[in-house]
Amino acid sequence: MDVELNGLRETALKRLGEVGDTRSLADWRVEYMGKKSAISTLSKQMGSLSAEDRPKFGQRMNEVRQALETAFAARQAELERIEQAKRLAAETIDVTLPGRRVPMGAIHPISRVIRDIEEVFLGMGFSIVDGPEVETDHYNFELLNLPKDHPARDMQDTFYLTEELLLRTHTSPMQVRTMERMRGEVPIKVIVPGRVYRRDEDDATHSHAFTQIEGLVVDRGVRMSDLKGTLETFAKALFGPNQQVRLRPSYFPFTEPSTEVDVICVHCQGDGCRVCKGTGWIEILGAGMVHPRVLDMSGYDSQVYSGFAFGMGPERIAMLKYGISDIRLMYQNDLRFLSQFTGV
Ligand code: DAH
Repeated sequence: MDVELNGLRETALKRLGEVGDTRSLADWRVEYMGKKSAISTLSKQMGSLSAEDRPKFGQRMNEVRQALETAFAARQAELERIEQAKRLAAETIDVTLPGRRVPMGAIHPISRVIRDIEEVFLGMGFSIVDGPEVETDHYNFELLNLPKDHPARDMQDTFYLTEELLLRTHTSPMQVRTMERMRGEVPIKVIVPGRVYRRDEDDATHSHAFTQIEGLVVDRGVRMSDLKGTLETFAKALFGPNQQVRLRPSYFPFTEPSTEVDVICVHCQGDGCRVCKGTGWIEILGAGMVHPRVLDMSGYDSQVYSGFAFGMGPERIAMLKYGISDIRLMYQNDLRFLSQFTGV
């Protein structure tokens, strides 16, 4: 038995030297020191020894056990050290490497301008609504005081889908839709941003699809001075506190009187330059008092109620604000253009 024990110890230690990682180390422990190991089997056989040999053998057995235990602990410590070193080497971070730049997105200039304008009008108590891009002739023209043979229809060359259906040429039909939805309730204070379509040749200042923001206010006793005050507040918020607005007489079938609205040229501050063609003023929108016929057709008695409306083009405002010389740049999505608007 003694010989057997020595052999066992030798084999165990030899195999321990061959164990290469902590996982096989656990296996080793089960095999050589576990309940079903040869040592355990031997110790169970101790009962068959004489009373004289038993303590001696028992002691030897303990020594071997102790030796294996010690060797195991040493090997374990060594393997853990090796594995940790490997792990650390694999996880090394070079803190001197320059960081990777996170590419920053930019808000499209048209969206930027729409958001800024929405912000201003929300501040004045307006709500934002939107409406269909596929409209009926009825809403796009008829109810805006533009009957079929009206010459002013030529101002807006139209994409017709059928005889009655079309792509809206302006956001003004939402004036009518909003009044119908409100069913005679006042006040109405809305703005309507949205896309509109016209059969225009695309060039530096025209596009067959572009954006508009419509505004509508209806109540008792709304006056032209309310329109002017509202637009002045808007112009100062968008272009700066020294802004002024100038109203010029104009014509739109759905407003009476109608006006075109100028702001002081954002380039030369009114001195006169190429952008404003020497006038010092730049046109930014069309507006007017809602035509009595439009009010009446939409269920608001023009004897009782009055209102003002306006329509503007965010593209034009973006071009002025950011010095963009060609409207087409805003539809091409060239990153060299768009990335200039990070942080705007
Ligand atoms: N709808 C007009 C256009 O597209 C712009 C406009 C002018 C809208 C006067 C209005 C307005 O609400 O009152 O040319």
